Amino acid sequence: MQNFLILGSGGREHTFAWKLAQSAHCGNLFIAPGNGGTAQHGTNLDITVSDFNALGKACIELNIDIILVGPELPLVLGIYDYFNSRDELNHITVIGPSKAAAELEASKSFTNAFLEEYNIPTAASLNITKENIIEGIAYIEANPGPYVLKADGLAAGKGVLIIKDKEEAKSSLQEMLEGQFGEASSKVVIEEFMDGIEFSVFVLTDGSAYKILPIAKDYKRIGESDTGLNTGGMGAVSPVSFVDEALRKKVMERVVTPTMHGIKDRGLVYSGFIFIGLILVKNEPYVIEYNVRMGDPETEVVIPRMKNDLGELCIKIKEGKLNDVEIDIDPRYCTAVFLVSGGYPEKYEKGKTIRHLDTLTDGIAFQAGTKSENGLLKTNGGRVMAMCAFGNSLDEAIAQSMKNAEQINFEGKYFRKDIGFDLS
Ligand code: AMP
Ligand code: GLY
Repeated sequence: MQNFLILGSGGREHTFAWKLAQSAHCGNLFIAPGNGGTAQHGTNLDITVSDFNALGKACIELNIDIILVGPELPLVLGIYDYFNSRDELNHITVIGPSKAAAELEASKSFTNAFLEEYNIPTAASLNITKENIIEGIAYIEANPGPYVLKADGLAAGKGVLIIKDKEEAKSSLQEMLEGQFGEASSKVVIEEFMDGIEFSVFVLTDGSAYKILPIAKDYKRIGESDTGLNTGGMGAVSPVSFVDEALRKKVMERVVTPTMHGIKDRGLVYSGFIFIGLILVKNEPYVIEYNVRMGDPETEVVIPRMKNDLGELCIKIKEGKLNDVEIDIDPRYCTAVFLVSGGYPEKYEKGKTIRHLDTLTDGIAFQAGTKSENGLLKTNGGRVMAMCAFGNSLDEAIAQSMKNAEQINFEGKYFRKDIGFDLS
């Protein structure tokens, strides 16, 4: 038995907690800070994911053996290195990459150099700072739009601008370099625009061996038919019907294998999840981004399809023996439809009472922005909960997710009714 600490507070972390609670290897389970859903499976700790001193103290006190990291922030801040470099903490396994390896998510220019070095297909790109802004302007002048401008660093998911108009692109480039996203946009990456359909591939590694997890697709825009503002994710499906065996093989050969080779070749210390955001252009896969964690809401459809014991997988990673296990995947479709607060991703209200959760009979509600208060479950964020369901077809799974989404009640509830619309 091992004692686990999950870091994070979203639907992804509720899913991890739900899965670990079913593990034959999970002793005590803690979540920091967690949410109303994680509290059903373990004990929430009131500690933020970036407070390493407090996390370290809690881990000693609670005899934690393994930390499973949800979001990128603690990884990018170096939680792996923090635990590993302290005598009193280095017996605890942090499942996640080192700070140096987390640059794969934290820096677009680092990632583009990595992709180029290992010959992994991606968009052509230019790195621009105030010093060479003239090159950026010249690129925009010489090429037709749309223009893809990315803040080099992390900008809370908001640092990518896709602009059609030439003049607007030039002034946006200037604004970004002048600090629109703070330090994160002191360097801007201009990328060739790729027109295609996106999907997400997940790899689990112990630093040497690696396994491919179920492939998924998420829906980021607030409005139906992928319109309106970007969100933290309005829904997800797995499997993805257009990713057939031939495409999967291509992704393995051209993307996954060279990525894993590159990580080793550069000596990057990496255990845990690698999330590869891909776009299919004329049936060829190109990398859009790496994330050094699982996706949200993809986790809510990927983890339920894995029949493996998540506790055992974590222990195999700790022991460097991931090769001992096979990933066992449920062939059925799993879908997630996110219920969000009215107004999200702009201004919205919290504290609305969530009703009828106890009436769900077929499906799982993975909670994100929720909080238990005096025995009532209240909304506590923009994305409230992911309604997940299985089906033998995409339509069947979606129909069940929709039914469950209708059944839950809170003031201002909104959800997209077209998740999976481009896949049938
Ligand atoms: P990122 O933060 O890199 O994931 O970018 C956010 C979103 O912008 C992606 O999910 C894509 O929808 C879009 N995007 C990023 N890079 C490109 C590109 N080179 N061409 C087209 N769309 C892109
Ligand atoms: N679903 C996209 C992400 O987790 O970044």
